Amino acid sequence: MNPISAYAKQRLDEIITQYKEVKTPLMMILSAFQKEFGYVPLEVQEIISKRLDIPVAEIYGIVTFYSMFSLKPKGKYVVGICLGTACYVQNAQQIANHLEEILGIKPGETTSDGLFTIDILRCLGACALAPVMVINGKILPHVKVNDLQRIIDEYIKMEAATYATSH
Ligand code: FES
Repeated sequence: MNPISAYAKQRLDEIITQYKEVKTPLMMILSAFQKEFGYVPLEVQEIISKRLDIPVAEIYGIVTFYSMFSLKPKGKYVVGICLGTACYVQNAQQIANHLEEILGIKPGETTSDGLFTIDILRCLGACALAPVMVINGKILPHVKVNDLQRIIDEYIKMEAATYATSH
């Protein structure tokens, strides 16, 4: 994986300095970096390890245990498919499979253009809307396999329009 930027390193340094003296510095630092950069790669964990004198294995354990942390950068659009029971019995697995085919990636991966990441989720508490898909926090209810291509195309079109107006 690419090394983090000089800016990210500098921010990490500032974040560590900011939280070093609090009671639970590790969680605060990991959360702050994740929030700002969208992931906490191993390189960042190693720097935190040295500064706080905590073994990297311990930090890695936390980052991989809590789903709010990610080891890899995520795409601009994070497409979550709920595989909780209510969604599962309504075809959610087929929806996940078809989405993988359309985007050419597996869950947890990001498309090479950096646009989409697939996340597999557990019950979102919206079972009445099953099967549910979430794109950047927006819930799409009663999704059908046949809707997927159109939904993804809409985001690609939106992206192209944004690009056109900003260039
Ligand atoms: S199982 Fe999918 S929202 Fe509850």
